Amino acid sequence: MRIGITGGLGFIGTAVGREAQQRGHEVIVFSRKPQSPPEWAVECRVLDMTEKPALNLGGLDAIVHLAGESVMGYWTDAKKQRIRDSRIPVTEAVVDAMKASPDGPKVLLCASGTGAYGHRGDEVLTEKTPMGTGFLADVCRDWEKAANEARQILGARVVLLRTGMVLGQGGAAWPMLKKIFSLRLGSRLGDGKQWVPWIHLEDEVGLILHLLETPACKGPFNLSAPHPVTNAEMTQQIASVLGTTTFIPTPAFGMKLLMGELASVVLESQRAVPQAALDSGYVFKHSQFREAVASLV
Ligand SMILES: NC(=O)c1ccc[n+]([C@@H]2O[C@H](COP(=O)([O-])OP(=O)(O)OC[C@H]3O[C@@H](n4cnc5c(N)ncnc54)[C@H](OP(=O)(O)O)[C@@H]3O)[C@@H](O)[C@H]2O)c1
Repeated sequence: MRIGITGGLGFIGTAVGREAQQRGHEVIVFSRKPQSPPEWAVECRVLDMTEKPALNLGGLDAIVHLAGESVMGYWTDAKKQRIRDSRIPVTEAVVDAMKASPDGPKVLLCASGTGAYGHRGDEVLTEKTPMGTGFLADVCRDWEKAANEARQILGARVVLLRTGMVLGQGGAAWPMLKKIFSLRLGSRLGDGKQWVPWIHLEDEVGLILHLLETPACKGPFNLSAPHPVTNAEMTQQIASVLGTTTFIPTPAFGMKLLMGELASVVLESQRAVPQAALDSGYVFKHSQFREAVASLV
């Protein structure tokens, strides 16, 4: 297959591109900056929101759309606007580009997040569970709606990648967790009862390629391991694997003072399970949090 990847030079995109190339696919990377392609891609094309269409999807069989401003950082109004603007209008631009290229892709895999479910306590969340409320849930709803236009208007196969916290070398979460815990500053956040949907980078990549290569797969998929952990379990297991101790628990108000609205990402509970992925026959390499963390150390 000829596969385009927006955000293809980012954390997940690079890992997906490398593995796709290893499996014999041809990879075309899209970036906002013109540049030469990495060794695993055949071409690098530009994603330019000032142009119409914003990207050239000619000759592609599928597009994996991962581009988006990082949600990490202090959520000022301007940051929140960038988080939205880099997702909804850019996804609309991807669908417009699909419309504009008759020889373009008929398959769209679009990033989304388990944040789509909002704050849900102990409720088990499958892809059949209605979406929730809150800033990230609202962004995900509009993001997925924009992607679904490709199905409604073009009859394309659309897959929505509702991803949890991705654990891998070089990504946002694991290097930060490792550093904090190595300094013995890792601590339970809030009451620690909130569920954390997580996935090892190998499964994030394996599952994205499984969804790409399996024509029957469409609609939303939770990209999270079969066994989510609570924040308290996560804290204890990381400390145990790294052979360190934990700091005194950080109360929710402290997190909010420190991180502002971004604290919702670590304080809200999403007990997401990958029901659709398991039903589709995907076998996880890393199902248990402790083993997944140990594999990264
Ligand atoms: N990593 C996770 O734990 C996680 C969890 C849930 C969901 N996701 C979602 O999965 C996708 C990929 O995540 P990632 O961790 O690989 O992200 P990443 O490393 O930050 O890469 C995202 C890429 O998007 C492009 N980008 C950044 N800001 C942009 C903007 N304002 N407008 C347009 N493009 C922009 C950049 O590519 P160029 O500079 O080359 O244009 C960047 O390399 C994101 O949409 C993210 O929300 C990730």
